[in-house]
Amino acid sequence: MRRLPRWIVLALATTGCVASREQSALDPTGPHARSILTEFHVMLLVAVAVYVIVIGAIPFVARRAKDANEDVATREQRARRVVTGCIIASAVILVSLITWDIIQARGLEHGPDQAPIVISLTGRQWWWEVEYVDSVANRRVRLANEIHVPVGRDVRIDLQSRDVIHSLWIPNLRGKKDLIPGRSAMIWIRAEQPGRFRAQCAEFCGLEHAKMALPVVAEPEPAFAAWLDRQRAVAAAPEDASALQGREVFEAGTCAACHTVMGSSAAGRVGPDLSHVGSRLTLAAGTLANTRENLLRWIADPQQVKPGAQMPPSALPSNELMALVAWLESRK
Ligand code: CUA
Repeated sequence: MRRLPRWIVLALATTGCVASREQSALDPTGPHARSILTEFHVMLLVAVAVYVIVIGAIPFVARRAKDANEDVATREQRARRVVTGCIIASAVILVSLITWDIIQARGLEHGPDQAPIVISLTGRQWWWEVEYVDSVANRRVRLANEIHVPVGRDVRIDLQSRDVIHSLWIPNLRGKKDLIPGRSAMIWIRAEQPGRFRAQCAEFCGLEHAKMALPVVAEPEPAFAAWLDRQRAVAAAPEDASALQGREVFEAGTCAACHTVMGSSAAGRVGPDLSHVGSRLTLAAGTLANTRENLLRWIADPQQVKPGAQMPPSALPSNELMALVAWLESRK
């Protein structure tokens, strides 16, 4: 089906349905999102057709109502026939659309029987905990606020929440699915083209709900495998003296109580895993681009960037802060 005209996209953008090409249900890149868009087009078409028919019938009905030659009984009989016909037509249209929707949705909820890629995603206030599941313990990969998927492969995402209800929405790849505390859910996605997409928490989950985004990178299988291997390995030790000092600051200060960094003594699990934070696209769950200035800003005063975030402000002197930033940047 052809892409929607620009003015419709703009109208939808004002209602929040489309933020950009990276986060747009109107730019599907996988079978799930495409089936949703097809349904949207068909339902829009049916709704417009019904509207045009109903509005178009008004002058005709008004003219018939004025017909003085008809007696009341005939008129009532005709009205009854018309109303019954409209009820039946509405019921047929609605039931057909719902049945089609259920069949489409069921058909898409499966993946390969053997060796699928499985990502465990946990919603937290207000960030995403990510784990690439593997039966071999040391091949598991833990990170936060970013997922990578290989193009053309079915990927299963297991969903759970640690605190309140969140909802995962990757508009370019599929519709929303709630993450409910105490329950687990599962979705399948398949990206058919490489690209960067922006997923967003789609269920109000507190103060920073709007700043709970999840960049999704779809890349060719070799690039994905290389990325996953890099995530498994400990980031190389920096040569820079300042960065080396940053490691000491991290381990000795409060950072290590909440964050894990592979290859250091920091093993906290309260906050995001920072083993490869230097390689991530964004900081604070999609809130800031991952640059040195932003990292500094974020660590120095998280409340200014993301009010309500559970990360405390840092009371470090500026030379230690710079060293800390240099070390974190080197975690690639
Ligand atoms: Cu998490 Cu909204």
